[in-house]
Amino acid sequence: MEYRGYDSAGVAVLTQADGLVVERKAGRLANLVSALDDAGHGAFAGTAGMGHTRWATHGAPIDRNSHPHRDTAGRVAVVHNGIIENFAALRAELEDSGVELSSDTDTETAAHLIAREYDHGSTAGDLPASVRAVCRKLDGAFTLVVTHADQPDQVVAARRSSPLVVGVGEGETFVASDVAAFIEHTRDAVELGQDQLVVISRDGYDVTDFHGDPAHGKPFTVDWDLSAAEKGGHEYFMLKEIEEQPDALANTLRGHFRSGRIVLDEQRMSDQDLRDVDKVFVVACGSAYHSGLVAKYAIEHWCRLPVEVELASEFRYRDPVLDRDTLVVAVSQSGETADTLEAVRHAREQKARVLAVCNTNGAQIPRESDAVLYTHAGPEIGVASTKAFLAQVAANYLVGLALAQARGTKYPDEVAREFGELEAMPSAVAKVLATVGQVRDLGSRMADSRAVLFLGRHVGFPVALEGALKLKELAYMHAEGFAAGELKHGPIALIEDELPVVVVMPSPKGRAVLHAKMVSNISEIQARGARTIVIAEEGDERVRPFADELVEVPAVPTLLQPLVSTVPLQVLAAEIARSRGYDVDKPRNLAKSVTVE
Ligand code: G6P
Repeated sequence: MEYRGYDSAGVAVLTQADGLVVERKAGRLANLVSALDDAGHGAFAGTAGMGHTRWATHGAPIDRNSHPHRDTAGRVAVVHNGIIENFAALRAELEDSGVELSSDTDTETAAHLIAREYDHGSTAGDLPASVRAVCRKLDGAFTLVVTHADQPDQVVAARRSSPLVVGVGEGETFVASDVAAFIEHTRDAVELGQDQLVVISRDGYDVTDFHGDPAHGKPFTVDWDLSAAEKGGHEYFMLKEIEEQPDALANTLRGHFRSGRIVLDEQRMSDQDLRDVDKVFVVACGSAYHSGLVAKYAIEHWCRLPVEVELASEFRYRDPVLDRDTLVVAVSQSGETADTLEAVRHAREQKARVLAVCNTNGAQIPRESDAVLYTHAGPEIGVASTKAFLAQVAANYLVGLALAQARGTKYPDEVAREFGELEAMPSAVAKVLATVGQVRDLGSRMADSRAVLFLGRHVGFPVALEGALKLKELAYMHAEGFAAGELKHGPIALIEDELPVVVVMPSPKGRAVLHAKMVSNISEIQARGARTIVIAEEGDERVRPFADELVEVPAVPTLLQPLVSTVPLQVLAAEIARSRGYDVDKPRNLAKSVTVE
């Protein structure tokens, strides 16, 4: 579960010998492992336990802020994901009643409150009821997992707007933020709904709402196994995931074109609703946002619909103009990014329809949407998105074709032809992967660069942004992506001798005008001393004289170019990071799934 956060890690185990044992350590999981060894806890003999990896929100990533947190008597242990928004008031109330808190976290308040309920409240002695009573007092988003020294056969977990799944094994039961935590033991899982609480024991699980009324989770079977979440001989996950991109694309396309029509995975809105769409917003964060920028070019061209692409964290705070004919496309690998989820909720409150593009079956965002198109990229472990990004780009094209089909801006044979072109993309990407060696070599030579600029035009512009983001997140290097035409309006001042500039060229055949303008832009920067690294279509002889380094990618249709041109930029960022000695899969300060705003 480290991909969700690696600022600190901790465990709490209910042991027969020593009662509730807790160890926690700042930094990577390896630090916790050594701490456990030092404390002589090589193997725990216990009935129940919990572990947590943290991405710090309240309180610095130091030992005392690490989870699990305990009450003063050390009998209740709590791990928590999310943010308890009214924690300052709760903390003040606890302090007024004489409780001394030992951390700076919001989580610790929950541990004390649960202990107080369990010891003195109307729910005394009943752990699930005590947790429910506390959950009703909490604002914000949270998943809580709770154990009590008096209840060695029970683990209680609760969720609001933050993920929680149950794993049902034989003689053992699990709860986790993600099935990856227990896939080694069982593929039978149960998804919990909003404001639900589950009590797990050796023999199974019991779900209620926060008032104690019976509720039901949604059982499902995980359709991948542990091997999908292992490195399989690769040096790091990201490289494995880059190489899995042809499969990720093929799997994303599979099943979405049937009987001559683009089909979505779930559709709780009518075809008429799709036909009536008169404006599209794509909302997303990080790499998913860049996939949305690519979608804008395709959807506007294919559907003649205005498309705005918004960072999800900005969307709902600026009062966007939405109505029932607005389609909001929410793109999220995890399906649980808090910023995107809140954007979805805002859109639905304003009566807009929401279509989710998501890589995680049954996650919160698809569940709260009117239609869903799943990318089938498989689990992505590397924190920086690669195969999930490419699958998002492909899925967004499918959304564009579905809209074109519904609105009749493309005839069925045209939709079929576009889909056929998409189907050729996995093999085009496989060809790009043949350049990995050349790009890795280039990356290792760029390890000492101070900064790198990325330029693109048209669909190459979002690719430039994505290339720069990859480099920032992985190599901690100053990197900026620009629309090449904008260069002369300011950023050209950044060009100095030997500054590497990565240029994503448009196709000389597909967009001859843009190609010519781009060649001019390259000569402008070369004249000012930049070192040009050019990603160009194979056989593009006109650009060759301007390329200090040339990486060739196969010729593909204009709008689909991001699927091939992004790949060398992923490899470049990973290799620069590796050469600088950084952990490619776990870049500092980041987490893969960000469930807080
Ligand atoms: C985090 C990750 C990014 C990702 C973004 C959106 O910031 O580090 O790699 O692109 O979240 O994630 P999502 O799961 O919504 O696609």
